[in-house]
Amino acid sequence: MADITYDASSRCWILQMEASTYCIGLSQDESSLQHIYWGPHIPAATALEMVQPSKPSRAPFESSTGNSREEYVPWGEMRFSEPSLKVEYADGTRGIEWLFEEHGSERSEAGQTLWLRFRDRAYPLTVTLYYRVYNGHDVVERWVRLENTGGSGPVTIEQAFSADWRPPRRERYRLTYLHGRWGKETQIAETMLGPGKFVLESRRGTTSHQFNPWIALDSEARATEESGEVWSAALAWSGSWKIVVETMPYGELHCTGGVNDFDFRYPLNEGAQLDLPTFVGLYSNEGFGGVSRRWHRYELEQVLPASPEAVRPILYNSWEATAFAVNEQNQMELAEQAAALGVEVFVIDDGWFGERNNDLAGLGDWTVNREKFPRGLNPLIARVNTLGMQFGLWVEPEMVNRDSDLYRAHPDWVYHFRNRSRTESRHQLVLNLARNDVREWMFMTLDKLLSEHNIEFVKWDMNRSFSEPGWPDEAEHNPQRVWLDHVRNLYWVLDELRRRHPNVAFESCSGGGGRIDLGILSRVEQVWTSDNTDALDRLHIQEGFSYAYAPRVMMCWVTDCPNFFTQRTVPLHYRFHVAMAGSLGIGGDLSHWTLQEREEARSFIATYKRVRSVIQNGLLYRLRSPRTGSVAAAQYVALDSSEVVVFAWGHSQQFGEREVSLPLQGLEEDAHYADEVNDGTLYSGAYLAQKGLSVNLVGDFDSRMIHLVRTKSTR
Ligand code: GLA
Repeated sequence: MADITYDASSRCWILQMEASTYCIGLSQDESSLQHIYWGPHIPAATALEMVQPSKPSRAPFESSTGNSREEYVPWGEMRFSEPSLKVEYADGTRGIEWLFEEHGSERSEAGQTLWLRFRDRAYPLTVTLYYRVYNGHDVVERWVRLENTGGSGPVTIEQAFSADWRPPRRERYRLTYLHGRWGKETQIAETMLGPGKFVLESRRGTTSHQFNPWIALDSEARATEESGEVWSAALAWSGSWKIVVETMPYGELHCTGGVNDFDFRYPLNEGAQLDLPTFVGLYSNEGFGGVSRRWHRYELEQVLPASPEAVRPILYNSWEATAFAVNEQNQMELAEQAAALGVEVFVIDDGWFGERNNDLAGLGDWTVNREKFPRGLNPLIARVNTLGMQFGLWVEPEMVNRDSDLYRAHPDWVYHFRNRSRTESRHQLVLNLARNDVREWMFMTLDKLLSEHNIEFVKWDMNRSFSEPGWPDEAEHNPQRVWLDHVRNLYWVLDELRRRHPNVAFESCSGGGGRIDLGILSRVEQVWTSDNTDALDRLHIQEGFSYAYAPRVMMCWVTDCPNFFTQRTVPLHYRFHVAMAGSLGIGGDLSHWTLQEREEARSFIATYKRVRSVIQNGLLYRLRSPRTGSVAAAQYVALDSSEVVVFAWGHSQQFGEREVSLPLQGLEEDAHYADEVNDGTLYSGAYLAQKGLSVNLVGDFDSRMIHLVRTKSTR
């Protein structure tokens, strides 16, 4: 049971989680909140033993507050590290002096929430820090509410982060993070941190392909895949964000982040409140694998809209087959072929609306193109449903082409500056979703589309970064709120559509994996991992993805060869085995698949249906990384350890590497497991853990899936 207790004598709060403890306390003069402990589970008394009375600073040029381990850093006094909050009051005073005011906590079925309120001692600003913990988890969710309680005019917020994390004082830390670009998302990078700041951020208006708002820290690079202490954090925000990991002159490391302060100013008027996004921290002493499994469970149980047991249906998407040239006939044919393979959702991608025959025109005009679909979409949808599949549709609602009726009617609806160009990217401009009229239009348009058609899946795309993020009509007021309000209104539209159309599942896409974060994940069932579907490249993208995000949300398609990105040709079974490591989809042009390929596909899809609950909702053990050798492997274990699925993917075998032994993880040592797919061989859990599962891979791009089921029989 997660539990938060307050110790009145030391003025400390102790947050107890599944296997970890977090402790904070007020300084003696109540003018700062100090971090005391974050690590493995310890009794409250031990955490309180760590409380130290603050002493005057003996360090020249520093103050004791500036050098202390603050939970949230209001800029003022002698604070020189990256602050959490920086404001300017209406009379020109810059800098905050706050005092603790009150605290409270609430219990729910899921866990407990603590709040601590501070107030500027001379100005009407209150800052409430929130902490939430969940039963059965090791995450601390933190967020902040700022409020102008009135009487002294607006308070201008210049920087407002969500939390400051303080791993314990140790030798040097290693930072592990996810970076990339279009077609190469979630690549794993690591660096040993020296003095100074390491900044990860997006200034693009969205989460971005460049960096994902997730980090992990371990001391002296001691953590391995399955052992060692790791402190991790991830932001629930789908707009421009920033995470700063800073090593201070006296060796203290802290990690702060939230909405990006670049180009940010937010006047908080009298009586107004501002809620900042959640920054989530997680500790595990079971290495990077332990951290990932904890993130996955948290996402499945507390973040995603669907239940933890739900499985994602197998999807067909027509983008790579027909691109913009969709019409009723070719989609009907693809739907028939997809249904025959066992596909469960049929999705039409780009090209079905407006004058959309290429990427030059049509975005913004979300009405069915009558040349391509003379009878509208409903006859096709009816056929798809008769074939036993759900119907899904692609939209990109935040965008507009200049060549569209929407832009001709509302040229002022896009982000722009006066006397500046409107930079196009993929021939499109970004709608100013911070505007209420744009938000209303977007909601009404999509609501109509969903009301008039039996659409059960929406792929929501976002195919460019922001530029010229201006709003001339708002120039006198608060034009920089676009950074916040675009995202808040995106969330509002999604939330409202979900409320009105509870049968519709959503996929977040931004040219592949450009908008994947805990914020969007609380509103969508899945994400499009990458436009790059080359199976070997995907092993790398999917490995990085799995550091932070659950396999169930990771959409993976089997597509045609040679691959559009890499010109690489790999066997169909290898492509299936790579795509089966997450949520399986098909994106190839089925009209060209041979009978034999269809037969193979049918069989893989049937197999996947049998094992998908283990893959999508089980525990993932990354047995071998694609970064370290010619064979990569991953293992998934059902929560009750009754079933195990192992994938082994070989990509460039050298002589003598044919037989691979894979010691398995997380099994019951004295239980027995039968190999369901192959010959029914029985293994003991101890054998599989110690000797390992033996896999023979032959040549390049060979792969295997092994499905083990716990049995009662013995060897
Ligand atoms: C983006 C998406 C693709 C596809 C195209 C359509 O690139 O990532 O999957 O939907 O847009 O234009």
